[in-house]
Amino acid sequence: MDKIIIDTDIGIDDAIAVRYGMVTHDVLGVTCTYGNVPVETAVKNCKLAMSKYGSDIPVLKGASRPLSRKPLPFSTHIHGKDGLGEYYTNNFDAEAPEAVHFIIEQARKFPKEVTLATIGPLTNLAIALNLCPDLPKLLKKVVCMGGAFGTDGNCGNMTQFAEFNIYNDPEAADLVFASDLNLVIVPLDVTHKVQVTDKEIASTNDDFLINVSAFYIDFSKKYENFAGMIVHDAQTISYLLHPDKYKTIDSRIAVSTSGYTDGQTIRPMTEYNVPDDKFKGRPKHTVCLDVDADFIRDAMLKAITK
Ligand code: BDR
Ligand code: CA
Repeated sequence: MDKIIIDTDIGIDDAIAVRYGMVTHDVLGVTCTYGNVPVETAVKNCKLAMSKYGSDIPVLKGASRPLSRKPLPFSTHIHGKDGLGEYYTNNFDAEAPEAVHFIIEQARKFPKEVTLATIGPLTNLAIALNLCPDLPKLLKKVVCMGGAFGTDGNCGNMTQFAEFNIYNDPEAADLVFASDLNLVIVPLDVTHKVQVTDKEIASTNDDFLINVSAFYIDFSKKYENFAGMIVHDAQTISYLLHPDKYKTIDSRIAVSTSGYTDGQTIRPMTEYNVPDDKFKGRPKHTVCLDVDADFIRDAMLKAITK
């Protein structure tokens, strides 16, 4: 199985992604960050998840705030006050070894073998890049749930332009997207297309995921008028398993870090052959713009079914 590290601000769709990662990959560790919940809660939630599956995958503790700006409020309305749907009492402690050094150490230990799946704000990865400029040569790949390009007619989920993970730390995201990492971006353009209903999640017989999902499914039905929940983060794992089910482009990407477009992921309009010097020096990354949604949903449900 391929080696991965999952970098998470574990809310409900993160929990699904972590489980999907565990059953399909060799997960070297789960590195926590802030975002949906404070980093301390993320550590506790990852420990709870590991205990439910009898797993000894290491849980690590990373950044507690963005690189240089004020933290945003946490997503309690979507994921619950505890980030996992307010179902379980969580008595785990919030202590864990440091996450950023763990990412660097594992990348050095297994050069070109480790893929990092980021499913929260990009602060941990940005710090790792600052501490270890060789990281792009050491990591096999980074697959990042984040951003929005509007190709599905919608754009952001935090502002008209910005997606949550990027909006939490646009400076970190811009640093990551300007780097030479072998990077795949899984934006809202594709994640919005894969929804999972309560019946479908029930069909997995995974009590932990069924119990934590109820809160998010309820929110999605009531306030977003969806039939089920959007499993944004799980699509990082889906991409790693089924890249051929995604329509992608290779593009330079920048992130707006101020003003009305703060947190927007931007790509040059090369379709019109207009050179855009603003993107000069930035490498191209793979951006997912469409997905075979039925296939991806069914394959994920099958893999996590007990
Ligand atoms: C992202 O925001 C978070 O609430 C989800 O866990 C996902 O990582 C989607 O915009
Ligand atoms: Ca997340």
